[in-house]
Amino acid sequence: MASRSCLYAYFLLLLVVFQSTSPIKGNSLPPPQCRRVLGTSSEVIQFLLNFLYLEANLYLYASTGHGIDAVAPGLIQGPAPIGAQIANLDATTRKMIEEFGLENVGIIRAIFETKQVNPIQGPLLNLSVEALGGFANAAFNAELTPTYNTYATTINFLPAIAAVNSFIRQYCVGMLPHLANDDLQVLGTKILGTVSARFGALRTLLYLNANVIVSPYHFDVATLVDRIAQLVNRLAMCGVKDEGLIVALQLGAENRTTTNVIPGDVNSLAFSRTEREMLRGFYGTGNATLPGGIFPHGVNGELAEEIVRERLS
Ligand SMILES: *[C@@H]1O[C@H](CO)[C@@H](O)[C@H](O)[C@H]1NC(C)=O
Ligand SMILES: *[C@@H]1O[C@H](CO)[C@@H](O)[C@H](O)[C@H]1NC(C)=O
Ligand SMILES: *[C@@H]1O[C@H](CO)[C@@H](O)[C@H](O)[C@H]1NC(C)=O
Repeated sequence: MASRSCLYAYFLLLLVVFQSTSPIKGNSLPPPQCRRVLGTSSEVIQFLLNFLYLEANLYLYASTGHGIDAVAPGLIQGPAPIGAQIANLDATTRKMIEEFGLENVGIIRAIFETKQVNPIQGPLLNLSVEALGGFANAAFNAELTPTYNTYATTINFLPAIAAVNSFIRQYCVGMLPHLANDDLQVLGTKILGTVSARFGALRTLLYLNANVIVSPYHFDVATLVDRIAQLVNRLAMCGVKDEGLIVALQLGAENRTTTNVIPGDVNSLAFSRTEREMLRGFYGTGNATLPGGIFPHGVNGELAEEIVRERLS
């Protein structure tokens, strides 16, 4: 018991030291639930692997009917995703999504080629219509009937994956200043470049379809994107960082526009997210130690274990 509380005190101390020597200037200390989990550069990139793996499988299954294993056998081992399926996408979107999935395979390979990041077991993914539809229900705080089917059409698919990609982009933004290892910081910067470009492409497609009704429901794409953004912000518990495609003037760039293809803060700078915000959102529970949603058994790696061990909900 004593050694345990000692350890805890040690971590607290580390946290204080870490925060006070943080290279990010001008930021006041965020509230406890919005602070990063302490980790080495390798552990941070390892944490990111969970989400690159998710994105690769989601995109590859949806566009081709096969996952990461069919493209790069053995690159990252994991159980077969639950309910992953080919989506009914238009030809252009299908090619784009396949490309994005393939890109993640290369990114994951590049991470391993540094030889500085320990491999993880691919986490179990729940990509079933029901699991993804659960997020749509939560977004509208209602039981949508029929169940929201992410795979049914391009219009149904895009808002879901744009939300997934947004989260990953924000994690990349958040992690970069904390990568002390030079090689990994260079790699992380390049990953952010690719992931951000993808975000722009997905948001553009959404914006072009903002007024399209998501049938058989009665809401349009703009409303759906807005509700998902609100849900993500609620779950992550660290303020408004995801935003709709059309916003109030006060949230638009320079307070002069209501279009919001690329969300940002008051100076149009990208928002960042921490490990625990990621898990609260992807688990769909608002609790980083209570797995569910897309990761029924949680994510893997050192930081994931630390979050469970230290009960960093
Ligand atoms: C996948 O998600 C659905 C909907 O939430 C759930 O009913 C099912 O049990 C989940 N599967 C696993 C293995 O967690
Ligand atoms: C936009 O409005 C917000 C308050 O709603 C204010 O804090 C901000 O400074 C304004 N930005 C500009 C560029 O005027
Ligand atoms: C988060 O989940 C854990 C594990 O189920 C639970 O013990 C804890 O009380 C939850 N935390 C919050 C804030 O709900």
